[in-house]
This record gives sequence, structure tokens and C-alpha cells, in this order.
Amino acid sequence: MNKLRAAITAVGHYVPEKVVTNFDLEKLVDTNDEWIRTRTGIRERRVAESGATSDLAVPAVQNLLKNRGIGAEQIDVIIFATVTPDMFFPATACVLQEKIGAKNAWGFDISAACSGFVYAISVGTQLIETGAYKKVLVVGADKMSSIMDYTDRNTAILFGDAAGAVLLEPSTEETLGVIDHKLYSDGTGGQYLYMKGGGSLNPPSHETIDQKMHYLVQDGKAVFKVAVMGMADVSAEILERNKLTGADVDWLVPHQANLRIIDATANRMGLDKSKVMINIDKYGNTTAATIPLCLSEWWHAGKVKKGQNIILASFGAGYTWGAVYVKWAY
Ligand code: UT7
Repeated sequence: MNKLRAAITAVGHYVPEKVVTNFDLEKLVDTNDEWIRTRTGIRERRVAESGATSDLAVPAVQNLLKNRGIGAEQIDVIIFATVTPDMFFPATACVLQEKIGAKNAWGFDISAACSGFVYAISVGTQLIETGAYKKVLVVGADKMSSIMDYTDRNTAILFGDAAGAVLLEPSTEETLGVIDHKLYSDGTGGQYLYMKGGGSLNPPSHETIDQKMHYLVQDGKAVFKVAVMGMADVSAEILERNKLTGADVDWLVPHQANLRIIDATANRMGLDKSKVMINIDKYGNTTAATIPLCLSEWWHAGKVKKGQNIILASFGAGYTWGAVYVKWAY
């Protein structure tokens, strides 16, 4: 029997209107545009002035549904990747379900930080491959501004808010769709990128607030070293095991944490920079949203075509990392 494949059949994205430039941040912390640009590649990021992470996802999904020409009630499953859920529970997938009217779906959240979308695609792909589900909505969205310490120059400059989504359906052509995926995690990295407060370890109290435990903390240098290796290694691995070289790849869609990490990954894959989707300059690091945001922006610009070989790659807190090989289906 032929293998049932999952294909991406629609994309959508949303970014809030408010733009925060490096120059704006110069007024908040001891930093400057030149440092931020040369060390990270970021020029500006978007910040949601109201609403929650699910409110970023709603217009992204509505955009996707319109592109596919279907109604929300046709969605079978919602997988929502985020580290900034609306609340601990109910799952943001359920909040989104209600807001978009996906009344026939069930859903759950995935917490894998910057690798959340890549993890979610892998899980969604396997739900399609079993034959049990026909329409799996995979969302990557984060309102990073809700966990940012805007007095900490090490982190405040890096992150932004956004949402992206893709629809997975059984592929109508056996050679097209999600061909391969490889995921990793390493819990020893948890000490370098985390938010300590608010959970069962440090339930909210005056003390946790005073100690700023509800903000993201990162040892940038430590994460940088392993991120460069992790993202490059897993990207090279997914090429090798699918007998591809850089010349076969049409697009690398890397998690957008730092332009220097993206460049190192492209170099390791032997890939020309023109084949790398990069929008970190406009949006910064939007955590689970970076990859679907790129895919949707490039698709809307008419640059993603049927049959193209596309590699998604990420590295993030956990540590978590992974890569996905997609042969674009539409
Ligand atoms: O997405 C999830 C995974 N996360 C990542 O992949 C992020 C990985 N890490 C990074 O991207 C980089 O480490 C950062 C962009 C976070 C930092 O860049 P860096 O080149 O590693 O800088 P650094 O932390 O080593 O800091 C170098 C210097 C320090 O000053 P001294 O000690 O050399 O005097 C910092 O205090 O730059 C200083 N610095 C800043 N200066 C101006 C740190 N942040 C800033 C800032 N503006 N915002």
C-alpha cells in the first residue's frame, strides 16, 4: 500500500501593527541600533498593544482558511505551539477553537519554545499519516512582549509578537508533502533559557514578582554556541538522510533568532543566501511563529512553488531542535 503523506495545503500569518525599532529601544535600555543590527540582524519588531496570543492567531488562521476556501468547522485537529499561552489552561488551542468556530475539532498545545512549530508539524504529519484525520491546523504564535523585561538589554531587543499557521491534509500526490522530520531535545540546556516564575516550582507570589521571575531569562552566549551547532547539524543530517545536497534545496526556512546562526546553518548546508528565508530584520525572534511567518510571507509573495524542496530548521529553549523536509504541494 502506498504511504499516506501529509501536505501543507494552506498558509496564513498575522503581525500586530505597532512597530518598535532599535531606536525606540535605545530610549528604554542602554543599547544602540548598530549593536543590535550587527549582533543579531534585527532592525525592528512588532508588539501587540492588547489581546493575548490567541488573538494573534485568529487573523492568521482566518487568512489561511480564506486561502484554502474552507470553513473553520472543517478542521479536525488544532495543534497550537506557544510558550506564551493565553493561560496555563485551558489550552490556547481550545481558546482558538472557540474564537474561530472550529466546532468539530479537538486540540492541544505544544510547549517546545522556538522549536514548537517544527515539533507541531512533526506531530500533525503523523496524525495525517495514520489516516485518522484529514485537516490538521498547525499554529505557531507567541506574544513574547508579555514575558519581556524591558529593562534587560540582553533580552528586550531580541523578541517580537506574531502568529503563523499551516494546514496539513493528506497529499494528493505521493511524492509531495512532508517527506521527513527529525527532532531532538536536551534538558541539560534548560538552565540557559527559561522563565522560572508562575508554574508549580515558583507559584506567583509577591516574591516571584519582586524577583522578576515572570520574565524570560537567557544566557545568550551559552545558547548561541549550541544553537549554531544544533541547527547546522540537524539541517545537514536531514539533507544527508534524504540524499540531498545544498544544490537540491530551494528554500531553507530557519528559526529567526540571530542572523549569524542562520548564516552558519546556510554555510554548513552549502546553500546560497538567496535561498534562505530571512525576515528577522522586520520581526525579531517571534519564537514559535518565525517559521510559519516566513512560509506565509514568501508564499503570499509568490516565491514558494509546487515541487520545491524546503527545509525547516529550528533551535530553542529546552534545549529543543529539529528539521523538517517538505516537498511543497501546491
Ligand atoms: O531563539 C531561541 C534560542 N536563542 C538563540 O538562539 C539566541 C542565541 N544567542 C544570541 O543570539 C546572542 O548571544 C545574543 C544576540 C543574545 C548576544 O550576542 P553576543 O554576541 O553573544 O553578545 P554577548 O552576550 O557576548 O555580549 C557582548 C557584549 C557584552 O559587553 P562586554 O561584557 O563585552 O562589555 C554585553 O554586555 O555586548 C553587551 N551587550 C549589549 N550591548 C548593547 C549585550 N546586550 C547588549 C545590547 N546592546 N542590547
